[in-house]
Amino acid sequence: MKLSVIGCGYLGAVHAAAMASIGHDVVGIDVDAEKVAQLSKGHPPFFEPGLEPLLTEAVASGRLRFSTDMADAEGSRVHFIGVGTPQRKDGSDAADLTYVDAAVAALIPHLSPGDLVAGKSTVPVGTAARLAELVRERGAHLAWNPEFLREGFAVKDTLEPDRLVYGVAADTSDDDVAVLDEVYAPAIATGTPRLVTDYATAELVKVAANAFLATKISFINAMAEIAEVTGADVTQLADAIGHDARIGRRFLNAGVGFGGGCLPKDIRAFSARAEELGRGDSVAFLRHVDEINLRRRQRLVDLVVDSFDGKPVGRRVAVLGLAFKPDSDDVRDSPALDIAVRLHGLGAEVISHDPEAIANARRLHPQLRYADTLEAAVADAEVVLVVTEWKAYRDLDPAMLATMVARATVFDGRNCLDADAWRAAGWSYTGMGR
Ligand code: UDX
Repeated sequence: MKLSVIGCGYLGAVHAAAMASIGHDVVGIDVDAEKVAQLSKGHPPFFEPGLEPLLTEAVASGRLRFSTDMADAEGSRVHFIGVGTPQRKDGSDAADLTYVDAAVAALIPHLSPGDLVAGKSTVPVGTAARLAELVRERGAHLAWNPEFLREGFAVKDTLEPDRLVYGVAADTSDDDVAVLDEVYAPAIATGTPRLVTDYATAELVKVAANAFLATKISFINAMAEIAEVTGADVTQLADAIGHDARIGRRFLNAGVGFGGGCLPKDIRAFSARAEELGRGDSVAFLRHVDEINLRRRQRLVDLVVDSFDGKPVGRRVAVLGLAFKPDSDDVRDSPALDIAVRLHGLGAEVISHDPEAIANARRLHPQLRYADTLEAAVADAEVVLVVTEWKAYRDLDPAMLATMVARATVFDGRNCLDADAWRAAGWSYTGMGR
């Protein structure tokens, strides 16, 4: 089937490559000429495991191309909208819909009657109904088809989703469901659950899922705060409650909290939208979820400052990790980067390392010092912080590392190190809530 994917960021680039890999004829469209040039050569403009080979193969096969010209969307049966919906820059928590609105406005002149526009971006509930009116003027249909991919697993999550959600209009639902089933035929064939809903439900599924995940993380981080004053171990607590299948162990890792381009802005936008709808009270707890999350970064900063007897100026700190999570070069709202910035701001001599995210971090914070190798970051450090749980950090040999630092003190901001092994190798080890 001929498909267009409008917006070639994390979501769109992966979606376009994945759809081409299952046999569709795809054009990815983005306003950023540099991004389009990179993608056309098969180079992802960001780090995502498994994406490069998928892209290269799809481009070479002729089934995937990229363009800056919206006219190239003409003739596609389905037009996916995958542009960003960042937090607004005017201090509001609401989502900025500029890119979604611009993408739809630019697409409309190129739509033919019967085309399906399928929104994938995360939007405030009510957006799809509004856009559907515009699309209908061209005789086209609109569906909302949220995307649940995780960075680091984006290819797998796109090709083998946990579920598919189609938010459709009542009067065109049969047609639209049939078209989307054809798009996702391989996933449908393997029995992927597929839920057909109205627009509002589909939009809410996405924000509700992210709100739940954020709440789960802040819940365990709240327990970490209690563990800190009682001497309990939050990791064991998470293991024990996680055995209850109703709770589940996943997303119960306490540490410096969640970041990235989705969870933080999505819970804020959800709160803002709920307030607009007169239901701010219903999700008031999300404000606490956000507060607990941001507190954990400061908690780690405070622990480090305490280890310097309250005088961090000029003290050498190695920060291992900048990305908001491992297997990503994304530093948007990253707790790791924020911690480095805060310690630097307090006068500590911070040197940061990350296997993939240094270039992105440097662009945002050129004032920080970055080391290209882990060895250079930890050399003569008085404190080592692990704030993104890259495998390379989890696999560190504490005995070897102890010979490189000035003082063997480690703060495990992700509770990802074997505390006993590090202590046995002579380290002073501090985790988060354990
Ligand atoms: C998230 C959702 O998981 C995904 O479904 C949605 O489509 C987009 O937002 P992503 O932002 O890629 O995906 O990252 P995710 O794996 O959810 O992690 C988010 C943050 O939570 C990371 O900073 C991670 O380190 C943190 N986290 C995750 C924890 O602190 N503890 C956990 O137990 C799990």
